[in-house]
Amino acid sequence: MSAPEEKTTDAVVAALLEENRVIPPPDHFRAQARLRDESLYAEAARDPEAFWAQQAQRLTWFKPWDKVLEWNPPEAKWFTGGRLNASYNCLDRHIKSGLRNKAALIWEGEPGDTRTLTYWDLYRDVNKFANVLKSLGVKKGDRVALYMPMIPELVIAMLACARIGAIHTVVFGGFSPESLQDRINDAQAKLLVTADGGFRKGSILPLKHDADYALSKCPSIEKVIIVKRDEFPLRVREGRDHWYHRLMQDAAPWCEPEPMDAEDVLYILYTSGTTGKPKGIVHTTGGYLTGVAATTEWVFDLKADDVFWCTADIGWVTGHSYVVYGPLLNGATQVMYEGSPDWPDKDRFWRLVDKYGVSIFYTAPTAIRTFMKWGPEWTQGSDLSSLRLLGTVGEPINPEAWMWYYKYVGRERCPVVDTWWQTETGMIMIAPLPGLTPAKPGSATRPLPGVSAAVLDDQGGEIPVGGGYLALTRPWPAMLRGIWGDPERYRTQYWSKWREDLYFTGDGAKRDEEGYYWLLGRVDDVINISGHRIGTMEVESALVDHESVAEAACVGISDPVKGEAIAAFVTLKDGSLPQERMDEFLKRHVEAKIGAIARPGKIIFTGDLPKTRSGKIMRRLLRDIAEGRLLGDITTLADDSVITNLKKKYEEE
Ligand code: PRX
Repeated sequence: MSAPEEKTTDAVVAALLEENRVIPPPDHFRAQARLRDESLYAEAARDPEAFWAQQAQRLTWFKPWDKVLEWNPPEAKWFTGGRLNASYNCLDRHIKSGLRNKAALIWEGEPGDTRTLTYWDLYRDVNKFANVLKSLGVKKGDRVALYMPMIPELVIAMLACARIGAIHTVVFGGFSPESLQDRINDAQAKLLVTADGGFRKGSILPLKHDADYALSKCPSIEKVIIVKRDEFPLRVREGRDHWYHRLMQDAAPWCEPEPMDAEDVLYILYTSGTTGKPKGIVHTTGGYLTGVAATTEWVFDLKADDVFWCTADIGWVTGHSYVVYGPLLNGATQVMYEGSPDWPDKDRFWRLVDKYGVSIFYTAPTAIRTFMKWGPEWTQGSDLSSLRLLGTVGEPINPEAWMWYYKYVGRERCPVVDTWWQTETGMIMIAPLPGLTPAKPGSATRPLPGVSAAVLDDQGGEIPVGGGYLALTRPWPAMLRGIWGDPERYRTQYWSKWREDLYFTGDGAKRDEEGYYWLLGRVDDVINISGHRIGTMEVESALVDHESVAEAACVGISDPVKGEAIAAFVTLKDGSLPQERMDEFLKRHVEAKIGAIARPGKIIFTGDLPKTRSGKIMRRLLRDIAEGRLLGDITTLADDSVITNLKKKYEEE
């Protein structure tokens, strides 16, 4: 594993260190904010367990818990003995309160079609779909895979699984059939819910068609349910495939919510790690719901009349926690949009903000950098005065992008919350409280109340001011409970770098004199592309899977829009096609194996990969070469003596 600084360019660090702007919450925002003083931090620090127990009261429990926390590092159990149901908490209790007719989802498809579902509408459909799942043999504990576009039926399907105690595993619609297949097989899912297709940038995402490829090698799948999004062509396999709308017609309108144990699994979500095989991150019910319910309210200062829009796809954890569970638990009204920000024009997001009066907007730095590239004029034709808070997530935000967002989208009126967290943490961990915390552009600021973080050195020594590894030093309710089917990997991946009770995030960070955290990116072999994780090993496996490739090594290089991009060093076998032709073939091959997100930005052909004497690939050298720091902008390393000489030089250093 490389040291934290190694992967971060000096320029980035220098820029962060020079960054000394402080932007306090605007007075008008502070005056109305839910949290305006330090009391929540103080309360949490006094007794973290009592604090989280207090937060768990936000939920409706069928049976109260016996114990708040059982912590046998690295195994944590929260709210043991307690019983509750996620769909009941997101829906039933709102139906019984004044929220019955409130809009839960204001949905817009990419072509411009719209639907609004009230809490009642959602409740009714979730009940019916829960009965559909039962009628097809799905039982508590069974896994259900969801491979869908951003349509309300995805939310309905997740909550219907939760209602009957089935475990959902959502697979991002942009993943390839092979990625879907791997996830279904790892989870041993019994049923798949998909759609005929979805719209993206004006074209069709042929989900059912792709799913059919995957299913040819997924023996665990017994039934498939297809949501009809449009008139997309597909084949229906008799006996196995069923149309959603037909099943819903006959479904009974009430389904008893299953009283789940607080520690029963709510979902599995796959994410990339440092091996070729994605990890199925396991989240359970009581602690996860407590964590996302509380953080949604604190970080977004959520109020009853807000219109909340998190632009993340539900296929990622941000969509799970801050499109589905967090906002619905809080009875919020949300905008949900199916498609691309530049369809039909580059102002689509701002038009949506204007049209629906969005007040809280949460997106990724990569999107902001794309908007910057398009130019501020695209933000100017829409009325953005409804916005009162902006958020970012998924990757470090450079201060320039932060300022641009603040200036052109927020019009210098809206606090910006930079939120650090992970698939594994389930909930936001480091972020400002917008009515309280002065922001420093580029810093996620401080750990939230009840969250305990530290910057540690290699030996686990705390670095109060300075750079090192970001660790989480106390269990938190929404923490992952394991990796599906791989308890050993859970232990070695997260809890063995130092002591068993210290969680290793995989991120580098600096802590400044005021206790603010500045995230520096991954320190392991994981690349963050547009806020999404891809393991270098996954891309390498996809490349060597090609018949012409002898060896491959991938590194992350900085990209002005995506944050990072993949550079692949490839050694071809003798007799393969010329490099110019192989370049596009290999990029497409990776797309087909994993998904478009993993497409290498640059392929550099080389006769030899630089390795240490023990055979370890010298990734730092590769990064320097790929970023042009050593050789200028080369794409072909025809002369291997260059690499040999560089390697010698590095070894001598
Ligand atoms: O490297 C950190 C980066 O994204 C990683 C987590 O990725 P994932 O599990 O896909 O979840 C993304 C959405 C929660 C982290 O290890 N990351 C996430 N948020 C930030 C960030 N890096 C810097 N600043 C952030 N706000």
